[in-house]
Amino acid sequence: MITVSAPGKLMLMGEHAVVYGYPCLVTAVDRRLTVSMEEAADGEVTIDAPESNNTRFVAEAITLGTAAWGINHHGLHIATKSELGNYGLGSSAAATVATLKALAVLFQKEISDRELFELGRRVVVAVQGNGSGFDVAASVWGGTLYFADGGKTIQPIELEELPLLVAYSGVKADTVNLVAAVAQKRKQYPERVERVFESIGKLVLQAKEALMKQDWERFGKYMDFNQEYLRDLGVSTQKLESFISAAKHAGALGAKLSGAGGGDCVIALATKDKKQETRNALEEVGGEVLEVTLNAEGVWARGETV
Ligand code: PMV
Repeated sequence: MITVSAPGKLMLMGEHAVVYGYPCLVTAVDRRLTVSMEEAADGEVTIDAPESNNTRFVAEAITLGTAAWGINHHGLHIATKSELGNYGLGSSAAATVATLKALAVLFQKEISDRELFELGRRVVVAVQGNGSGFDVAASVWGGTLYFADGGKTIQPIELEELPLLVAYSGVKADTVNLVAAVAQKRKQYPERVERVFESIGKLVLQAKEALMKQDWERFGKYMDFNQEYLRDLGVSTQKLESFISAAKHAGALGAKLSGAGGGDCVIALATKDKKQETRNALEEVGGEVLEVTLNAEGVWARGETV
């Protein structure tokens, strides 16, 4: 029996534009999804995934993984366990990466992180029809990553701390439809939307520098600018905006939505002295502040057969 654990993710900056090849910044969160896998003799692939949405990703990972690595099996029993909940913390990507890794380890296939990432991204796109793969990268490599050129460049950023608060809005984001809505807008207003993407791309580059220096004042400003562009793209909501202004009034250095928008989480950058006030302010407007450790370890396997 192989057990593999993969982390979830939080988008820091660059969402939507990253789907069109612009860069983004992402961090892995230490809420994890575990896949246990063993061979069975009954010829069946059984998937026991309490979060039913993950089943499709696990099944597709098995289909593409066995094909890519020439694996013949006599049946597989797979079970998933998740700490990621329904908060938009990247459970699909974590399920995909953990399943592929478990398959590789169980059948003693030596695959690199890069191969794991490439195949993981194919699985996600096959199931949901779109996606940049930033979430797959976070699950594979962990830490905090600069993700650029459609995933050709993946650069870890060394950080001692990342003073973010994460507040769930209570509304589930529909990532696939939001990505489609932005694509539609881009078709209708190509120049305008491309200009927004370019601006986000430049901002992410500057934010990366600020992040590397742990210059929180500047990083917070860039988060705020990024939020303005996301508003422009039409993916923010009144509820997310209320969280953002509450956090800012309480002294957060920056605040923005994280991910596709429409719901899910807001991230607020709050240094120690402003953390409690920011947390209270987010809770007062109905936010569920999540206890998450950021910059978490990438995928790992236990019970290796080699
Ligand atoms: O909704 P999330 O947390 O899966 O983030 C989506 C981010 C997008 O840039 C909108 C899509 C993508 O795959 O990069």
